[in-house]
Amino acid sequence: MDNYFKDKVIWITGASSGIGEGLAYAFSAAGAKLILSSRRTDELERVRRACIHPEDVQVLPLDLFDIPSFTARTAQAIAYFGHIDIMVHNGGISQRSLVRETNLDVHRRVMELDYFSYVALTTALLPHFDERKAGHFVVMSSVMGKIGTPMRSAYAAAKHALHGFFDCLRAEVSADNIKVTLLTPGYIRTNISLHAITRDGSELGTLSENIAGGLAPEKAAVQILHAIAKGSFESFIGKFGGEKIALWVNRYAPGVLIKKAAKLSPK
Ligand SMILES: NC(=O)c1ccc[n+]([C@@H]2O[C@H](COP(=O)([O-])OP(=O)(O)OC[C@H]3O[C@@H](n4cnc5c(N)ncnc54)[C@H](OP(=O)(O)O)[C@@H]3O)[C@@H](O)[C@H]2O)c1
Repeated sequence: MDNYFKDKVIWITGASSGIGEGLAYAFSAAGAKLILSSRRTDELERVRRACIHPEDVQVLPLDLFDIPSFTARTAQAIAYFGHIDIMVHNGGISQRSLVRETNLDVHRRVMELDYFSYVALTTALLPHFDERKAGHFVVMSSVMGKIGTPMRSAYAAAKHALHGFFDCLRAEVSADNIKVTLLTPGYIRTNISLHAITRDGSELGTLSENIAGGLAPEKAAVQILHAIAKGSFESFIGKFGGEKIALWVNRYAPGVLIKKAAKLSPK
């Protein structure tokens, strides 16, 4: 992996905190040129300044709900360094509520941000990758993109949808030297649960125990860089533990996992 990221141009969404922030530092340390996006420009500027090579980092504000802006934002992103090598689709929110109690609007909001924005940004950037006959989409799914547990129906649905879309995209574009890597992190210590939306769309506002005990974002970033450099199709990110075991059990004995999930207390 030594020089793999040197001078690569990488656009990261959700770069103002958590995994995206950890990735910004790791890519910058590896010599990449970066475009950092999210809504909070002040936080993006903080991350830019903390990168080892801030002079090679550009801040591009982007609201992932604002799909009509994507064409112009993509042109702006390409213009910074003349091209883009890697797009890291990472920005998003989680959700905590029972199906019985969840407004349809909550499902739509999570789907819009965690799924449709990824589709729309990919569609906006794909002509550039096509023209260069090169490019790499890195997609932040989750263990919840492979399994289902209580309280995560909207989030799991959006993450599962990413696998369908990006597996199909890979099949369409791999002959053109365009790669797709889906990442399925377990618990990573970030603000994700603080901003998770509940049954009426309000934020949960607390850091859940599992997330607090999760892998540090800088360690997650090391694993993610390895997965990207290897060109993995799909890669688990996180501590070896329950979430990784759940993925194995789901693959080889799905019935066992389904019974276990039904016994989990909602949290
Ligand atoms: N932490 C975990 O345990 C875990 C596990 C599996 C998967 N993931 C995935 O990892 C990704 C990053 O999450 P994280 O854990 O790092 O959480 P985080 O610290 O809460 O970061 C979320 C990022 O998404 C951005 N974002 C939220 N809404 C946005 C919008 N409307 N437009 C643009 N950007 C928006 C936020 O930036 P602004 O607020 O500045 O816009 C922030 O940079 C998510 O896709 C999440 O599903 C996390």
